[in-house]
Amino acid sequence: MKTLEKKIELPKRSMKENIEKLNVLLSDFQVYYMNLRGLHWNVKGRDFFLLHEKFEEMYTEAGEDVDEIAERILSLGAIPLHTMEDYLANQRIRSIENVSDGRTAVQLLVDNIELLLLQERGILDTASDLDDEGTAALMSDLISRQEKLSWMLKAYLS
Ligand SMILES: [Fe+2]
Repeated sequence: MKTLEKKIELPKRSMKENIEKLNVLLSDFQVYYMNLRGLHWNVKGRDFFLLHEKFEEMYTEAGEDVDEIAERILSLGAIPLHTMEDYLANQRIRSIENVSDGRTAVQLLVDNIELLLLQERGILDTASDLDDEGTAALMSDLISRQEKLSWMLKAYLS
């Protein structure tokens, strides 16, 4: 049994880089989640009802993604970052503050999502090289959902 466990275990050293990237992605997802909540609260204007509801749908999905990313890190034998201090120290995407205009909000979210997608594609590449199918599958799922979301947000802006 022990031999089998050893065989199915991913090589620890090579996983380190991807675990670090997953923790940065997790930090950015927490910031993205908070950005969506802030926009849900602060958006005003003609599209209030539409955007207020859309942002709620998006933060609900982002909250679930946060959990998936964190639990993937645990599955790889590491500890997911779990303090605000760590998230703020690692964030790459921009925090969105005091935005109430709908179009500005959507444009900023498109920018956020583009940075998340860049990271997800990077992690997917490394995970594929390492035969880390679980991480690759998670990234593929995130990428396809966020590419669709990005298309829809851009359609709103056009
Ligand atoms: Fe609400």
